Amino acid sequence: MKVLVTGGAGYIGSHTVLCLLEAGHEVIVLDNLANSSAESLRRVHELTGKKAQFVELDLLDAPSVDELFASSEFDSVIHFAGLKAVGESVVEPLRYYQNNVVGTLNLLASMNNHGVRTLVFSSSATVYGATEEVPMVEKMPLDATNPYGRTKEQIEDILSDLGAADPSWRIALLRYFNPVGAHESGRIGEDPTGVPNNLLPFVAQVAVGRREKVMVFGNDYPTHDGTGIRDYIHVMDLAAGHLAALDYLPSHQGVYRWNLGSGKGSSVLEVIQAFGEAAGKPVPFEFAPRRPGDTAVSYADPSAALADLGWSVHRSLSQMCEDHWRWQVNNPSGYGS
Ligand code: NAD
Ligand code: WQD
Repeated sequence: MKVLVTGGAGYIGSHTVLCLLEAGHEVIVLDNLANSSAESLRRVHELTGKKAQFVELDLLDAPSVDELFASSEFDSVIHFAGLKAVGESVVEPLRYYQNNVVGTLNLLASMNNHGVRTLVFSSSATVYGATEEVPMVEKMPLDATNPYGRTKEQIEDILSDLGAADPSWRIALLRYFNPVGAHESGRIGEDPTGVPNNLLPFVAQVAVGRREKVMVFGNDYPTHDGTGIRDYIHVMDLAAGHLAALDYLPSHQGVYRWNLGSGKGSSVLEVIQAFGEAAGKPVPFEFAPRRPGDTAVSYADPSAALADLGWSVHRSLSQMCEDHWRWQVNNPSGYGS
């Protein structure tokens, strides 16, 4: 299949591009490098011996996006491109709606113009909002609580309307839980700019000595150790979910929603402990107040993805930490190392 991967130079995108190339697909990456480096794709080439074509382009540049579709015959699109920092989205909502929603509309218009109607979209468990009901199932009402999450919810609505209006569309909405880890080679991984917002990259930077200690946001949640529980998923398992969705769509018209998670929750303290074991040294931490907007517990019911796609996770929390650590220790400054 000839697959256009938007945001393919980024964290999840680069791991998925690697899996696509290994599975024999032809891959074209569209990315504006706003939050990534083309070095990730150079390393994917080094690991696979196969090359994805790279087009440096912003989805907000609608005429150029349309030219790309006019000059290539894509079979399908995997759409990762977007801004993803929750806190930043609260401060700069217009930039988030513009980039994520308008960027997606531009992509959809070109897909429609050129008859490419198979799409896998990066949604997020964040669309479920502050519900205390777990596990999260796809049919639950959506109630995102911040601008970033609302861009995902709005895009899901747009895609649902599109599928209802024209049944020739084949759309997978993949709701990721908490992606972590790295390719087992330690050559590609997550390369956050500035202070990491997410737990795993922060823990990894403490373990490698770039930061002093982890601040554990809240130890008074109604959980077994008082810290927040999340469903961490290895990025290579997540990448495999995209290939499974891409295999499913050619024989299924319509719009499908799947949670991609493990179905198991781990607490912040369990993650810190597992990472310390992977790194061979304890990770210093300190308790701090709850982070505004956080919920106590979030984990997936991943049974729909298993039933429909035959997909489930294969990698444990220990493996996530070991692979994340290998990437961090070999590339202490990410792709700038
Ligand atoms: P990332 O920032 O590493 O990758 C996103 C890529 O999109 C980057 O390479 C960036 O340069 C590119 N991009 C952004 N805006 C663009 C535009 N207008 N035109 C072209 N390229 C653009 O993030 P990631 O963690 O790999 O996430 C990929 C997708 O998955 C995002 O849509 C994100 O919202 C979603 N998601 C991520 C997580 C997570 O925790 N990492 C969880 C759920 C969903
Ligand atoms: C995990 C747990 C924190 C950092 C976010 C987005 C979500 C999705 C995934 C894109 C929580 C605790 C964290 C730290 C801590 N992204 N924590 N100290 O909040 O579940 O989800 O990333 O779609 O939209 O909201 O992930 O990694 O930030 O936090 O104690 O320094 O770790 O309180 O319990 P979260 P996270």
